[in-house]
Amino acid sequence: MERLGRTAARHDAVDVGAKIGELSRFLGDGLATVEAELRRMPLDETPLHRSARHLIATGGKRLRPLCALLAARAGGAITDAARAVAVAVELVHAATLLHDDVVDVGDVRRGAPAARVLYGNAASVFAGDYLLVDALARIAAVAPRELPALLALLREMLEGEALQLEQRGKLQSSMETYLRIVRGKTASLFRFALAAGARAGGADDEVARGLGAFGEQLGLAFQVIDDVLDYSGDPELVGKATLADLREGKATYPLLAAMRVDATIGARLGDALLRPEGLDEATASRLAADIAATGALELSVEFAEARAAEARQHLDVLTDSDGRRALASVVTALTHRRA
Ligand code: IPE
Ligand code: IPE
Ligand code: MG
Ligand code: MG
Repeated sequence: MERLGRTAARHDAVDVGAKIGELSRFLGDGLATVEAELRRMPLDETPLHRSARHLIATGGKRLRPLCALLAARAGGAITDAARAVAVAVELVHAATLLHDDVVDVGDVRRGAPAARVLYGNAASVFAGDYLLVDALARIAAVAPRELPALLALLREMLEGEALQLEQRGKLQSSMETYLRIVRGKTASLFRFALAAGARAGGADDEVARGLGAFGEQLGLAFQVIDDVLDYSGDPELVGKATLADLREGKATYPLLAAMRVDATIGARLGDALLRPEGLDEATASRLAADIAATGALELSVEFAEARAAEARQHLDVLTDSDGRRALASVVTALTHRRA
């Protein structure tokens, strides 16, 4: 924790909420119209609809629609097709969160009880499917040119999830496998948000490809920081329980980096996970402290910063503009976030 304190001091922590507010003002009413569209959910009173409405109503950072609109603005203009892409990427994200909390047995999401706690696992699974279909239907209706890319993205996300499921509890997993998982489950959606947002805004293929590559690196950095926050974040700020990845035996960047330095960590965690009651609080906090003591959290932040630097290079497809600067500021804010 002491080491992480030093990391935080080295890089001033960013208030991501304030940054999003600033970028949202830059986009005029772009994000507000997307938000209104997201909340225009069918009013049916079934557990499925309640689950979907609950997750959407609890908010979240709305990063993916923000990225889609910024890409549209930077490469052209915020068109109806770009707004549809922005809504669709948040719907896909919401669907994966509903499913993720069932798979990861998550109880808290966006600072509120997870939908599955309120309405049950089955309702969350169906609600996630419902939101995915809604995303596909919106793209088919308003931005049909993006449908093949959206289908390819969904397949990639599922491949990432499938690999993560297969690797669960395998503490000897490689860094390469971890990165394949993250590319699939997280980075691919950021890549699509940026590339499809740009195309829908009128950007040419070169700009869309560049912004897609920017999105992929941004997504990698984003997930690594999420994995760091699982160890060192404030549950109040991140809106979900910490040490969840450790309890699930998920070999994320911090754990993989720590096990390279201190081989006893993997052995102790492996033994603890085999106990019928799973990982108890005291063992989890002791392991988390030992993981932090290896310097693994700083190494993880450094890796995220390297991805952020690579992301910024891809912005060279754009000439200097306030849109380009806005995208550059997103990558900085997300790499140094605390929430
Ligand atoms: C959480 O994403 C899931 C990951 C890919 C790490 P966010 O941190 O963007 O979640 P919300 O939308 O703000 O709740
Ligand atoms: C992100 O991984 C999963 C999705 C892409 C939905 P996590 O399992 O780390 O997400 P959180 O931490 O539960 O939000
Ligand atoms: Mg999870
Ligand atoms: Mg996480």
